[in-house]
Amino acid sequence: MGDVIIGAQWGDEGKGKIIDILAAKADVVVRSQGGNNAGHTVVSNGKTYKLHLVPSGILYPEKLCLIGAGVVLDPKSFIGELVQLKSQGIEKFNLLIDYRAHIVMPWHIELDGLSEKYRGKSDIGTTKKGIGPAYTDKYERSGLRLYDLIHPEIFREKAKTVGELKNRIITEIYGGNELDIDKIIEEYIKLGEKLKDFADDVSYITYEAHKAGKKILFEGAQATLLDIDFGTYPYVTSSHPNTGGVCTGTGIGPRCIDEVIGVVKAYTTRVGKGPFPTELDDEIGERIRNVGGEFGTTTGRPRRTGWFDAVIAEHSIRVNGITALALNKLDTLGGLEKIKICTGYVISNETQKLSESQDELNICHRFPCELEELQKCEPVYEELDGFAEDISSCKTFEKLPQNCKKYIERIEQLLKTPVKFIGVGPDRSQCIYR
Ligand code: GDP
Ligand code: IMO
Ligand code: MG
Repeated sequence: MGDVIIGAQWGDEGKGKIIDILAAKADVVVRSQGGNNAGHTVVSNGKTYKLHLVPSGILYPEKLCLIGAGVVLDPKSFIGELVQLKSQGIEKFNLLIDYRAHIVMPWHIELDGLSEKYRGKSDIGTTKKGIGPAYTDKYERSGLRLYDLIHPEIFREKAKTVGELKNRIITEIYGGNELDIDKIIEEYIKLGEKLKDFADDVSYITYEAHKAGKKILFEGAQATLLDIDFGTYPYVTSSHPNTGGVCTGTGIGPRCIDEVIGVVKAYTTRVGKGPFPTELDDEIGERIRNVGGEFGTTTGRPRRTGWFDAVIAEHSIRVNGITALALNKLDTLGGLEKIKICTGYVISNETQKLSESQDELNICHRFPCELEELQKCEPVYEELDGFAEDISSCKTFEKLPQNCKKYIERIEQLLKTPVKFIGVGPDRSQCIYR
């Protein structure tokens, strides 16, 4: 049995929380893509754990956590994360990393910063963790992998060649400061020694676990709208945070997957730049940001906020083959008089006519392929009554306020997909199952 848990908006939907909850009944948790640009929060018994590379099943010592070949691994960040987890009482790391995972090197981080600066006003707003440059090297076929890192002789030679070229790009193209390649190589060989015991063939282990009938959770990082092909390119990340990415990033076939759970918030957020049709630049947006604590787990940046966008959710359902939804942070909407759902888009020069008659307009329900088209889109909203009650201790769907239930049911109706999990607070206990 394999279930994919995937972000269906622009990230930070609460994937970490859902994975932690589902991991109680699973055997293996696998991360397939992304790097330490991800920030997955797990809250248990009042303790908050912020995970970046380590899979969100790590709180259960008996569960096997795997990091697949599609992940780009920053060794310093990974080791730092283990130290942090140890300081929080997690002693046992039942954790393996695929030999093939690419290593994020200091030049990737440097180049991430320099290329963002070079883009100026058109910067992407990356996390500056070196993710884009690391994936660039992977596809350019000059990347360094975990296998190289833990074999010093191989690493020294490959890293020297690549590092020297990177130094030329850093200094001659971008006018940046030269890096001390030899020093970096020796430092990383030492880091490699610490990673040796984690290295294994994750593709093989996952397949064997599947054959043995184990329950596997595939943990998505980032989200569909940040997918390099199906997101809001170029304002995306450099990997495939979709169901396809689970297969390529773990090295398994699609038949290892049964359910695909798309995680959404009851509203929408985005960090970094790029179009955001339902963005709220007003006091409601500000209120959602403050009540929902919408500040980045990785960078601390304030997240942009907006209404739930059913066009985006539908796009994600199609791209990923989502079979069920997890709707998080419903509690954050408590106290709002009205709640809106975006049900379609109109091209902006037609919005004038909108007030006259919605029916006569050509409302688009399909998420546009191109940014230029998306930028012209104005959301069409359906307005629902809000709920005033505090739902954070609600345990069943039936006990939710009437207007809350109506909101969930309308989302299900629009998306033709069941909402199986409802988040009413950050703790692992604050989730309603249906
Ligand atoms: P991820 O990247 O998808 O794992 O999500 P993040 O951890 O970056 O961001 C989600 C934030 O919302 C975290 O601070 C979570 O603790 C919090 N959270 C998750 N689910 C809920 C919920 O249902 N209600 C509230 N209030 N907070 C939640
Ligand atoms: P989780 O897994 C939200 C965004 C960045 C930026 C763009 C490119 O916690 O949901 P990158 O550093 O990847 O090159 O940045 O992608 N981004 C995320 N936004 N949640 C994430 O991960 C993100 N990872 C990257 O803000 O807009
Ligand atoms: Mg996050």
